[in-house]
Amino acid sequence: MDTYVIIKQLHSGFRYIVFLLVLVAIIQSLLGWLGQKPYTETNRKINLFALISAHTQLLIGIVLLYFSPLVHFDSTTMKDNVTRYFSVEHWVGMVIAIVLITIGHSKSKKIILPESKHRTIAIFYIIAFLVIVGTIMAGHLPVLGSQS
Ligand code: HEM
Repeated sequence: MDTYVIIKQLHSGFRYIVFLLVLVAIIQSLLGWLGQKPYTETNRKINLFALISAHTQLLIGIVLLYFSPLVHFDSTTMKDNVTRYFSVEHWVGMVIAIVLITIGHSKSKKIILPESKHRTIAIFYIIAFLVIVGTIMAGHLPVLGSQS
């Protein structure tokens, strides 16, 4: 198996870790916000791990930009749907989502009221999750599973 395939499979598989952690962070923040619960150490850790998983996926994605044959920048890039998606749309959408997670996490850290901490995580992480899923669907990729 060549380096490209290994990194692509790592990136493809790592999405489940991102999905799981972001979804758990969303559920616990909604329960905390709507149920007026305290902001616990477990809440803090899961929100942080979700952030770290998104940043790790970003790093793997940056390496993949270099190895992927579907990524290139020349006069044909924007004419072909697949190369346009992977050379531009995919990473732009994902970077927007990762920036949202980063902003949400950093804002919630500065807030003191538990309810507002939960609300900030819930809003930013939900929007980021929708952007991630929307970006995958925009490329006609399966949200779960692999195309090959
Ligand atoms: C949460 C963030 C992300 C998720 C969930 C995600 C998910 C995926 C998925 C499901 C694929 C298809 C893999 C396959 O065909 O088996 C893919 C491909 C790819 N991703 Fe991401 N991605 C994310 C972020 C990024 C970022 C930030 C970059 C670049 C900086 C990036 C670069 C790529 C590239 C270049 C491919 C093409 C692989 C190929 O050659 O087929 N991804 N990504």
